[in-house]
Formats: sequence, C-alpha cells, structure tokens
Amino acid sequence: MRKPFIAGNWKMHKTVEESTALVKAFREALGDFSGCDVAVCPAFPALAAVRGALTDSAIGLGAQNMHWETQGAFTGEVSPLMLQGLCDYVIIGHSERRTLFGETDDMVNQKLHAAFDYGLKPILCVGENLEQNKAGETEAFVGGQVRAALKGITAEQARQITIAYEPIWAIGTGVPATGEDANRIIGQTVRGTLANLYDDDLAQTVRVQYGGSVKPDNAAEFMSQPEIDGALVGGASLKASDFAAIVKATLENR
Ligand code: PGA
Repeated sequence: MRKPFIAGNWKMHKTVEESTALVKAFREALGDFSGCDVAVCPAFPALAAVRGALTDSAIGLGAQNMHWETQGAFTGEVSPLMLQGLCDYVIIGHSERRTLFGETDDMVNQKLHAAFDYGLKPILCVGENLEQNKAGETEAFVGGQVRAALKGITAEQARQITIAYEPIWAIGTGVPATGEDANRIIGQTVRGTLANLYDDDLAQTVRVQYGGSVKPDNAAEFMSQPEIDGALVGGASLKASDFAAIVKATLENR
C-alpha cells in the first residue's frame, strides 16, 4: 500500500513573515493527521523560519529547486549541501523551471543524483504541454522525461522518489485534467516506464502525485483514483483552509 503524499508548492509567493503565518495557520487548520505524508515547499528565504514553525509537527518541508553541484561559482544558486538538514524534500524539474529557466532533462537527472547524495527526498515533476497533448504525444513525451530523469538512478533510489505528473496546460489555469485521464497516464505511462526501467514491483511502489489546478472541490476526484497517490498543489496551497481541505479529502478518498 502506497501512502498518499500531498505537497504544497508555494512558488515565488510569501515573504518570510507571511510564510511563517501561512504555515502556522495551515498547522492549525489541519490539526493532527495520520495516514498520509504532507509537506510545504516555501521559497528559499523562508525555509529556516518555516522549519522553526514546524517544530514537533508531522508536516514535512521541501525546497522548490536546487543546483546539482555542492559549491562553486554559480551566482544565485543554492546547493544540495545547503539544503541538507534544512529540509526533507526537494522539487526537481518543475515545468516552470524547465520552460522559464531552460532546465533540460540532463540537468534534472544531475539534480536527482545530487538529491540522493545529500539525503534529500526528490519530487520529480514531469508533464506534457498543450500542443503535445493535442498531438497525442503525451505518453511518448512523459515516458521520455521519466526515462531521462532516472538515468543512472539505482532501483533502491528510485523507490524513494515521488513523481508528480503535472500536465503543463493544467498548471495555474483552473483547468485540471480529469481524474480518469490523470489516472491513465500515471498508470500506463509513468508506472509503465518504471516497470520497463526496473520491474513491476518497483513501479507499484513509487508514489505518483497528480498536479495541476487541484482544489478542495476536485481533490476527491483525483484521490479516489487507484494510481494517484496524492497531489502537488500550487495555488490552493497558499490558503491554509484550502490546503487542509485537500489533505482531508485525500484521507477520506484513499
Ligand atoms: P497549481 O500548480 O495547483 O496552481 O495548478 C501546481 C504546480 O505547479 O505544482
């Protein structure tokens, strides 16, 4: 049985003070919970403060990105060594990183290796754009992204990865995929590729989230799908009550 995992990607929102206030409000709205993993991913400047606000909480903490090198002349970048001990998770290869900041499959692969070198649990994002979707290229493209990202990743490491299937056309648009379509891509393409690369058992072990316009009112549709193990939530994670409602919907629909 895979344990559901709900992560909130705050993107470039919230100052340090606002982040602390948000995580406190979320903690309160959620209360005690069990049966799923939950994490918030604030911007870098807020990581330490949010970590402080999460003392004695079961809510995990993640970064939204990182470089793959340990240190060096990479102005503006943050290394895995700097994140080690500060957070538990790191989002890797988000489509905004890929499309707006030129992240390639090869960079995503290097970041994945670096995450394991420093004991960070990666959330690997994959997903097709609208053109690819309309052209019927989703399976080939998403399968290719998974394959490229996992180059040289051992089975033991792969089991610890969370993959977020996030169709780009659904991110921030208010137009989510249907639960059925997301379930099919995750089952056939994401798990299918994992089975090809490793084996069936591993493909059934890896947690795969859906992401893209997940809200309290559609969360149940995704969480009740057998192949979907949670969500990567953007916009709705910025409102404590909404994000708590999504976690609750997950627990009620597993
Ligand atoms: P959204 O973002 O929930 O605002 O669509 C999801 C994401 O980018 O992870």
